[in-house]
Amino acid sequence: MTDRLNKIFAVLPTCEVFADIGCDHGYMAKAMLDGGKCKKAIISDVSAKCLLKAQTLLARYIKDGKVESAVSDGFDGVGKCDLALIAGMGGEEICSIIERAKIENKLPQSLVIQPMKNCDKARICAVKAGYAIKYDRVFKSGAKFYNLIVLVTGKDNLTDEEIEFGRDNVNNPSVEFKEMVGDTYAKLCALLESSELSKTVRVEIEEKIKKLKKYV
Ligand SMILES: C[S@@+](CC[C@H](N)C(=O)[O-])C[C@H]1O[C@@H](n2cnc3c(N)ncnc32)[C@H](O)[C@@H]1O
Repeated sequence: MTDRLNKIFAVLPTCEVFADIGCDHGYMAKAMLDGGKCKKAIISDVSAKCLLKAQTLLARYIKDGKVESAVSDGFDGVGKCDLALIAGMGGEEICSIIERAKIENKLPQSLVIQPMKNCDKARICAVKAGYAIKYDRVFKSGAKFYNLIVLVTGKDNLTDEEIEFGRDNVNNPSVEFKEMVGDTYAKLCALLESSELSKTVRVEIEEKIKKLKKYV
């Protein structure tokens, strides 16, 4: 497992049936089963080629009836689970998976998402779908920063700041969050100085800088 996957694994709660939506390599389902954090796992991916990697890795568990696999768009072909992970996709893709699963009544009690971008959209759609945020933090792996969000069925209300930056980052900023904000802040300041920017873009950047300043 990579460092990023280990950090995701650390926040996954114990469950009965774990589903990895967009599993690709299948490392997470293997870690969940090896570590006794789930009794059964469902590995699914929209790409048969990607799923084959996970099926190969988990061949023993599949033979023992502990893993089911499905070529599936989101939760479409996925059976009942109480915890699902959607990691490594864009926030808009994650939203479309959540929204469709909501309509089809397929959303699990707990959901962990790790959007690569558009985290604000993912937060809004998860709360609209009936989740409360239990954990929402930035972590660093290698030179990159990632947002990791743990959701449990329930009601929630997010402030604008929590939507944009993540609740735990706002309420109790970590060193890693401050470092990420500092990087973005420096990039935006440099952009303001060096580029020929339209007035609209300049105003947008200045607004963003103003929001970031309190965390730098
Ligand atoms: C970048 S990989 C991430 C793999 C793994 N979840 C991780 O975090 O390391 C994204 C995977 O999601 C799959 N994927 C993309 N859209 C999907 C969807 N709508 N439903 C299921 N899988 C999807 C891709 O085929 C690919 O294997």
